[in-house]
Amino acid sequence: MKITFWGHAAFLVENGSHRVVIDPFLTGNPLATVKPDEVKCDFIIVTHGHGDHLGDTVTIAKNNDAVVIANYEVATYCSNKGCKAHPLHIGGGHDFPFGRVKLTIAHHGSSFIEGDQIIYLGNPAGVLLTMDGKTLYHAGDTALFYDMKLIGEMNQIDVALLPIGDNFTMGVEDAVKAVEFLNPKLTVPMHYKTFDLIDVDPDDFAHRVESLGKQVRVLGVGETLEI
Ligand code: NI
Ligand code: MN
Repeated sequence: MKITFWGHAAFLVENGSHRVVIDPFLTGNPLATVKPDEVKCDFIIVTHGHGDHLGDTVTIAKNNDAVVIANYEVATYCSNKGCKAHPLHIGGGHDFPFGRVKLTIAHHGSSFIEGDQIIYLGNPAGVLLTMDGKTLYHAGDTALFYDMKLIGEMNQIDVALLPIGDNFTMGVEDAVKAVEFLNPKLTVPMHYKTFDLIDVDPDDFAHRVESLGKQVRVLGVGETLEI
């Protein structure tokens, strides 16, 4: 499994045969170096409806004839915009050609703003993605929650992608506790530095997690990790 960080909460996950994009917020993402029209993928997983996660999903899905995988409301929103979509919901999983996706709970919101309208797009989610025997957990946007312990007990997580930016999600202290609960082999911080409100130091997070004897990898934008 190869994982490339595109800044914020956006990642490309690929093996030899499939390219899966998670939360492709590229337009308006000051950290992103990839343009939506350059993205090649066959599936897009969206954790929730907020613009910094839904992002360029509709454009990328249409360009690639890719399938959007998300909660029922986000999936329906995308199919109404002309995309192929596969709806899931919290606690449900499905076997796709590239592997298995299961949605977990996340404590957050999931609206999308269109003009002066707030469209509510169901519950926010985290994602368990299993591909070629490796399991990735993308927490989406979330507060710390005690059921992360259950997620960690029931899944051997090879890599956990956790928000650390505070203000809208877990900050560093809570994200360190999340690592204790989830017990992943490796943790990658995300959702920091994109905006002034989430200007958090990932090295502070890394040092605190390493002091627990756990591994962290801070990915630069565009950097790829192979697990
Ligand atoms: Ni959000
Ligand atoms: Mn967000």
